[in-house]
Amino acid sequence: MPIPSIPTRGRTLDYAASVYDLLEPICLLAKQAEYDLTILDTLDPQPTDTVLDLGCGTGVLCQMIAQRLQPDLGGSVTGIDAAGKMIEIARKKRGSGHCLFAAMAAENLQFADETFDGVVSSLFFHHVQLDLKKRSLAEAFRVMKPGGKLIIADMHTPTTFMGALVSHVSRWFFLQPQIGENIRGVLPDLMTEAGFQPPQSVAHYFGYITVFATTK
Ligand SMILES: C[S@@+](CC[C@H](N)C(=O)[O-])C[C@H]1O[C@@H](n2cnc3c(N)ncnc32)[C@H](O)[C@@H]1O
Repeated sequence: MPIPSIPTRGRTLDYAASVYDLLEPICLLAKQAEYDLTILDTLDPQPTDTVLDLGCGTGVLCQMIAQRLQPDLGGSVTGIDAAGKMIEIARKKRGSGHCLFAAMAAENLQFADETFDGVVSSLFFHHVQLDLKKRSLAEAFRVMKPGGKLIIADMHTPTTFMGALVSHVSRWFFLQPQIGENIRGVLPDLMTEAGFQPPQSVAHYFGYITVFATTK
């Protein structure tokens, strides 16, 4: 059954879903496993945790998180993405009883307040405009339990010459002003404005991706 995409002004990747698992390791210069492990270790989920992944794509990170959880004790991870085709592939390749996927827009989450112990997001925020970045962070704050962790890995102010080159070329090649916002370094302030503690930057990848960690 095809899963309909959710209307959003964010840049969704239905058209790339079928090749995404082939392309991403190349884009991440064969460091995808190490990069995802950094996010996972920073989140450091407890076996009983409930975790949400915003803009989960084909669900690779969700599957890694699920392996650290104990479903019989209530542990589960839910990946959401506005692209129905991403969710179809994620469910088919990586879905299980405690690794769940749903078509949903990050700026309009269909979950009750204080549902999740942790929220993660990898390479999603440079796909949405400033107002949707704000709304997605407000939603992440709303659905997170007090004391929960937020880990965001995304494009940020470049730390190397190559990082600056890649991110500025991407901004113009993909005609994506949302990337320009990330390059200007908006994410940490937006997290604080949404109510989170001032984030720590825990790792940098490729000179243009920063992994941020904060709490509610
Ligand atoms: C670059 S991919 C990242 C996928 C995955 N997190 C990863 O690290 O490989 C960005 C994802 O965000 C999704 N997306 C874009 N706008 C969205 C929105 N408003 N709500 C939820 N997902 C969205 C796209 O469909 C795409 O799958």
